[in-house]
Amino acid sequence: QSDEANQILEAYQWLSKLYHHLLYHSKDGKDGLKYLKERGFTDQTIEKFQLGFSPHAKEFIAEFLEKKGYHRQTMVKAGLLAVNDRDEYYDRFQGRIIFPIRNHIGKCIGFGGRTITHQEPKYLNSAESSLFQKGKLFYNFDLARSSIRKEGVAVLFEGYADVIAAYQADVSNGIATLGTSLTDTQARLLRRYVDTVLLCYDGDDAGLEATYKASQLLMKYGCNVKIAALPYGLDPDDFIKDYGADKFKNDVIEAGKTYMAFMIDYFKKDFKLHQEGDRIQYIERVMDEIAKLEKPIEREYYMNELVNEYNISMEVLTEELKSRMRTNN
Ligand code: CTP
Ligand code: MN
Ligand code: MN
Ligand code: MN
Ligand code: MN
Repeated sequence: QSDEANQILEAYQWLSKLYHHLLYHSKDGKDGLKYLKERGFTDQTIEKFQLGFSPHAKEFIAEFLEKKGYHRQTMVKAGLLAVNDRDEYYDRFQGRIIFPIRNHIGKCIGFGGRTITHQEPKYLNSAESSLFQKGKLFYNFDLARSSIRKEGVAVLFEGYADVIAAYQADVSNGIATLGTSLTDTQARLLRRYVDTVLLCYDGDDAGLEATYKASQLLMKYGCNVKIAALPYGLDPDDFIKDYGADKFKNDVIEAGKTYMAFMIDYFKKDFKLHQEGDRIQYIERVMDEIAKLEKPIEREYYMNELVNEYNISMEVLTEELKSRMRTNN
């Protein structure tokens, strides 16, 4: 690594420490701390995730970094500062809660900043750079790695807050993508560590759509996919707040369904099952998915469900399966 890359990495560590300090020891930070406490995050959790706050003080961060010996231009290039046409070097995260984003060895390489005053966008992330590439990492992978290994399962969430709330609820194998859909690189990375990925996305249309897409990608790389569904309108963090940690662990995480069990239900939304034509199309849709399953025992199991539910013969379904498997291969 070049000297400049090392410097930038070091600067990120300083800045992360400063933001965390300012959450507890600045006037503006008080609002941030109050916000986090109201969301139910404890001091211990705030410490663990090194949450911080960026005060409303235009050149404060620039001056701090300069005193540490970093040049303003380098900091702009590194995405630590922004510069305007009046040559003011300012922090884009002012007034926001700071979520430091750490790489796999625990070094801060970027920030997510959440507004506490309904600013747009709700979350702001550090700009992409050679150091910080959202599509190649997971939030919290460094802390979650040992539990992921131990349990053989990674729980994938949508957001920072979900990972942190889950951690507080004693689910320590949680990670998240950073506001983008799961990439091939991330799916491949995950497969190196686990057999099973439990998807626990938000209970809304976007979350369901993302669940379907992420499942396809994970299965493509050989992961066993399970899905923890939330009641409509809630995300994991909301659920924990409304129903508590135990219910989250038992009724959401532990109750995660297999991919097929989930999809058999999920696909129903596109069909009017009381109409014959739709019912047939629905069965064909489910058969498309069954044909993608790797294990014969799984294929047979779910075909049996269709046999029982829709009064179709196993012979016909077996024919349907054969033709699909010929085209898949
Ligand atoms: N996100 C983002 N930019 C946005 C909105 C969201 O980068 N404008 C990312 C963040 O990483 C966020 C994740 O997408 O954590 C999920 O978005 P959302 O469900 O909207 O946010 P929550 O995580 O639920 O955030 P909060 O509970 O703080 O409202
Ligand atoms: Mn501290
Ligand atoms: Mn969401
Ligand atoms: Mn959410
Ligand atoms: Mn949320």
